[in-house]
Parts: sequence; C-alpha cells; structure tokens
Amino acid sequence: MKKIGMLTSGGDCQALNAAMRGVVKCLSNSTENAEIYGFYDGYRGLIYGDYRMLTHADFSGILTKGGTILGTSRTPFKSIRELDENGLDKVEAMKRNYRNLGLDCMVILGGNGTHKTANLLREEGLNIITLPKTIDNDLYGTDMTFGFQSAVDIATNAIDLIHTTASSHGRIFLVEVMGHKVGWLTLNAGMAGGADIILIPEIPYDTDKVIKAIYDRQARGSKFTILAVAEGAVSKERAAMSKHDLKEEMKNFRYPSVTYEIADIIEKRTGLETRVAVPGHMQRGGSPCAYDRVFASRLGSEAGRLILEGEYGFMVGIRNREIVKVPLEDVAGKLKMIDPDASIIKEAKMLGISFGD
Ligand code: F6P
Repeated sequence: MKKIGMLTSGGDCQALNAAMRGVVKCLSNSTENAEIYGFYDGYRGLIYGDYRMLTHADFSGILTKGGTILGTSRTPFKSIRELDENGLDKVEAMKRNYRNLGLDCMVILGGNGTHKTANLLREEGLNIITLPKTIDNDLYGTDMTFGFQSAVDIATNAIDLIHTTASSHGRIFLVEVMGHKVGWLTLNAGMAGGADIILIPEIPYDTDKVIKAIYDRQARGSKFTILAVAEGAVSKERAAMSKHDLKEEMKNFRYPSVTYEIADIIEKRTGLETRVAVPGHMQRGGSPCAYDRVFASRLGSEAGRLILEGEYGFMVGIRNREIVKVPLEDVAGKLKMIDPDASIIKEAKMLGISFGD
C-alpha cells in the first residue's frame, strides 16, 4: 500500500488535472494499492492540514478540465522559514502533517517558486516527486512545461484576432503576452501569430529600432504593424542599469505596464494610431490543448512509475522528446531563459521579424 499526498501550487495553468489523473491512472493500473490525499490550495493545505482522501471519482472526467481540482495559491519561498501570524513554523508543520498521515511521497505540481519549496522539503527528509507546470516555460531541467503549449495557442489566437482591426484601421497594435521574466510564450505566439515585432526580456529593445521597423514596413506598403510584447520586456537603457537605479527609475513609472509605455512612445513619435490589447489570465484558462493532455499524461504516468519503484527526489520532465527524471536540486532556483543566439531567433530574424535590437 502506497500513501501519496498531492498538491498544486503557484499560478494555475492548463493540464494540471490531466497530470494528476496520469499519476493516479498509473498507480491504479499496478498491482499495488494506493491511497491518494489531496491537499487544498497549494502548500497552504499541507501547512494547515487541509486535505481529503481522494477517490477514483475525483479523477474521472478531468483530462480536459482547466484549472486544478485541488485549488492553488502562492506561498512565497522567501518567507517559508518565517513563522505565520500565529507563530506556526510552516516547514515543521508540513513535515508533521506528512508524517502524521504516514505518507510515502508528496507529488507536487508547480513552477519555479514551488520547486524551491519542494527541494527544501526534500532536504528536510520528505519523499518528493514534482511535475513541471507553468505557461511561462521557464523551469530549468525540462525542455517544456505543461500549460505552455495551451497558452501559446490562446496568445496566438489573440494576435490572430487583432490582425482584423489592425489591418482594417491601419493601426499599430501591441499585444501584451504573459511569461513573467522570460519570453518563451511571446516568441512562440508572436511567430505563430505573424507578429512583425517581438519584444522579449532576453533581448532588450531599442525604441529607435522598434520605430524604424514600423517605418520600414510602411515603406514596403504595410499600413499596420503588430507587436507581441512580453510583460517582462525591457529597454536597452533599463537593462544596463544597476538593480538600485532601476528600482529608483521604476518608482516614477506611470503606466499599467511596459507595453503601454512603448505604445505611448510609438504614438507620440510616429503620430500613428496605436492600441494595446492584453489577453492576461485568459492565457492560463480553459481546456488543455491536445499536446498538453498527452504531455501531462506522460509526465503523470512516469511519476507514478517512480513512486512504485520508490525513486524520490526528482522532477519528471522532457528532454529531446523523451520523458526524463531530473534531480530536484538541479532544478530549484534556476531560470530557463531563451538564448538570444539560439537558432530560432536567427530564423525569426531571417523571416523579417524585428526584436528591436
Ligand atoms: O507564472 C504564470 C503567470 O501567469 C505569469 O506569466 C504572470 O507573470 C503571473 O503568473 C501572474 O500572476 P498572478 O496570477 O498572481 O497575477
């Protein structure tokens, strides 16, 4: 008999349910019995003992369901060692709840922050298996995270839809794409949606170059221009600043986001009608795409196998299309960014896409 705890932590995304279902399906197809305990709202459930034993019915019909049946929350790693408002030691509380239930393993689904805490729990002696979720695709040690491809589809659709108004009105449109500090989502959705300019954190932009790219298109007879702008896009000037100077500079920042600032600069300098569209959290919403359903199921299945074999302390990821186990200590605390010299960037530039550099 295996006793497994499960939780989803951090921002939700597509295919969290598909991944959990994969783990449970794999376990239930083995000869070993398993009890699954679902902890609610991320680490909060493990800290405060908010859980329920799950049955097969809980995992039925959830392959296509967005969000997470367990709920989620953000529990910042930087304050995980601090006592809560009632003086509770959160790490000790998680260990206690794990031991009191007699768990063999915790399956933890999450992104970067989640993995830091998961690794800490491993260091504290708990058996941990993690699954890589996030629309940002910024988790180190895996080529892909689930949720990413579904979000690419949604952001691409947003850019597709914007083409109508952009071309009818001859406008400049900036579509702000999520992705936190990295540009994977923006790069992929931008290329898939035929964006003319793609601005990502890994390639700081020069406003003059962005405006030149717009004028170049006009000179070739294109009256409209679409920019895919990562929420973390950064100008060359700001990228060159020290952390301290940047903090000071951002105190006077008066726009909702950098996308609006770029739009304002473009409109003022070119006189061209410029608009911003922000799909926002819609990018994390709805059913997982087919790729993510298959991918998350594969990850879940391998996680189930590791549990059955008693192999703990790994994130299950994908490399070169093969599902692999990656030691948690190699994943935690590292960000996977786009290499500005990667071939995809060169190929995009050869297609005429400007990165504003
Ligand atoms: O990490 C996923 C993500 O959607 C990022 O792309 C975005 O920066 C962030 O979460 C938004 O967080 P929240 O849902 O807390 O507003």
